[in-house]
Amino acid sequence: MLFLFHLIFMSAATLCLISGVWVAMGFRKNRNWLKIHKTLNLTGALIGLAGFAAVAANIITTGGEHFSGLHQQAGLTALILVCLTVFLGFYSFRAKSKTTVRAFHRWSGRLTLVFVITAAVLGLRMIGIF
Ligand code: HEM
Ligand code: HEM
Repeated sequence: MLFLFHLIFMSAATLCLISGVWVAMGFRKNRNWLKIHKTLNLTGALIGLAGFAAVAANIITTGGEHFSGLHQQAGLTALILVCLTVFLGFYSFRAKSKTTVRAFHRWSGRLTLVFVITAAVLGLRMIGIF
């Protein structure tokens, strides 16, 4: 059951993050792009953390080992990058050097997406879908 939550939450989080980045890359002419980008990515980050809590609880209750394979390690890296990118996104409005922080946010955001998609593909392979 807890594993099913991981699968559903992570699939939803991946879709939110892909759409959120897509809006920032291709829909900047829409005056609401930042609001949509922020909402989709924050939602993706929160659902992703809930998905992690579900699988971690599953591993604890079944007595398994944490971060024991490529998917688990790519997934952990993705979640750390998600938190960093959200932080940089909010910080970029307050920082003195806004241009630098935004550049870091853009690159950490792109890298985040690479890790999220890699983790999702590896996860789906683990359960035999690819
Ligand atoms: C969408 C398809 C996904 C599937 C089918 C899937 C499947 C799995 C499976 C089978 C495990 C191992 C559970 C165990 O050892 O008992 C796992 C662990 C894990 N997954 Fe996923 N996953 C998916 C997406 C993701 C994504 C997108 C992320 C990160 C953004 C992620 C992060 C993790 C992490 C961090 C763990 C390790 C937790 C721990 O060791 O405590 N997964 N996943
Ligand atoms: C994990 C969550 C997030 C990801 C993966 C992400 C990713 C990205 C990416 C890839 C870009 C650059 C698009 C491009 O031009 O190529 C971008 C731009 C931007 N994002 Fe995010 N973002 C996230 C969350 C947020 C949040 C929470 C905020 C605000 C609070 C935010 C604010 C911005 C701003 C202001 C820009 C424009 C930066 C500039 O080009 O000057 N982002 N984001």
